[in-house]
Amino acid sequence: MTSHEDLLPRAIALHRQGRLNEAEDTYRELLTADPNSPDALHFLGVLKHQLGQSDLAIEYIGRAVELEPAHAGMHSNLGNVYMESGRLAEAEACYLAAIELAPDFADGHCNLAVVLRARERPAEAVAKLRTAIAIDPNHCEAHLNLGQIDRDQNDWSSAIDHFRAAIRGRCSSGLRDRGTQNLVAALCRAGCADEAIAELRAWLDAAPDNPIAAHLLAAMTGNGVPPRASDDYVKTTFDLFAASFDSVLEKLHYHAPKFVALRFEDFARGLECKPVVLDAACGTGLVGELIRPFAQTLVGLDLSPQMLRRAAERDVYDSLLEAELTGYLQTTDSRFDAITCADSLIYFGELEEVLCAARRVLNPGGFLCFTVEKIPPDTRLRDFELQAHGRYRHRASYVRRALEQAGFIAIQIEDMHARAEAGEPVASLLVTARISAPAEESSRGSVGQTGSGQSRPELYPSV
Ligand SMILES: C[S@@+](CC[C@H](N)C(=O)[O-])C[C@H]1O[C@@H](n2cnc3c(N)ncnc32)[C@H](O)[C@@H]1O
Repeated sequence: MTSHEDLLPRAIALHRQGRLNEAEDTYRELLTADPNSPDALHFLGVLKHQLGQSDLAIEYIGRAVELEPAHAGMHSNLGNVYMESGRLAEAEACYLAAIELAPDFADGHCNLAVVLRARERPAEAVAKLRTAIAIDPNHCEAHLNLGQIDRDQNDWSSAIDHFRAAIRGRCSSGLRDRGTQNLVAALCRAGCADEAIAELRAWLDAAPDNPIAAHLLAAMTGNGVPPRASDDYVKTTFDLFAASFDSVLEKLHYHAPKFVALRFEDFARGLECKPVVLDAACGTGLVGELIRPFAQTLVGLDLSPQMLRRAAERDVYDSLLEAELTGYLQTTDSRFDAITCADSLIYFGELEEVLCAARRVLNPGGFLCFTVEKIPPDTRLRDFELQAHGRYRHRASYVRRALEQAGFIAIQIEDMHARAEAGEPVASLLVTARISAPAEESSRGSVGQTGSGQSRPELYPSV
């Protein structure tokens, strides 16, 4: 028989080992005996947040805070859940309460700064980050955030100093990796390519299996450029990016989903019945949300579990699949009337294989719409290149050739700006294609002319 005093340490040990179901059972056992145990409520809330149940997390940690209002760590953890749920004002209030209770709580100052940045109050964020560093000069996350604020203001030299300080400080391997990635990007922007390559080599020496280091080193040196970004690179990058993806992309004036959705809508409006659609590399579901009203069945697919978790929260997909795109398209028995793929073939160099596989799963009359970054036609670059930041870009003539080889027709390639990068619009291509001409279609009948007679939207929104 376990005494109640033993239950909390046991639950915490299980929680630390990642045995979440057993940890939850043990917290609940403790709460049955003592419904007002602040620790059990607090840690159960943290666990619920890890399971993606943020509303319950807020309820449990909120009750813990009511029971123990002088506990700075509880206020801070409640702030973390609010922050990751996008409830910034509530997060700010929690972090303020935490640092009022514990003025030397460096993490509290740093967390508050992160919210202030997200609320576009960079000057206040800088003040809080400086306080965190005054308390703890090696505070990795505070240096990282200060570096990012400098970077956003194009102050590369100060950004580089802070990123170097961040990776020298005490931090988890995940934070160190983020610091190094930020440092490499800043060195590139500052024109110090050799130093960036040296950092990447050192990173890879220390962590030979790190997919981000390997991918970026190939991008910087041009040696060993893969035909597409490795599954590990994509997964690691987007699992880390998922929580902030929507807010970061909004700030970058991310238009690719809107344009893909417009072209898809053109296609779908001409049909008698709504199409069955695959939103390929769906990410957090920005495209899915826009095209849902025009789809009979909407399937989302992505490699990154964390991106898929966000997509599930939108509740617009009939099903979500965790899979690699080419492999899925080459093997699935499912068939689709349309495939949308916004801003994801930028992680592919060679397009032939994935486009052939896309053709394989499309029904007669099927429609494909995707975006890629564009190589200017007047440069001497090859058909595609891997850029220093790790994304590929393509030449329009190559995209057309790859589509034709895969058997697509009615190919339209339009210039657009998918988003901004360092304040500059990114030259991109919006591509649509069919696998048989609209006039030839009979099996599902009545597919109209795509967009004929309609005015096309402006593809160059101001950035
Ligand atoms: C920039 S995001 C775009 C997401 C979404 N389409 C949108 O427009 O918001 C790129 C997505 O492509 C996914 N991705 C990249 N390569 C992939 C692959 N080979 N198979 C499946 N998903 C992939 C990533 O995980 C990520 O979610």
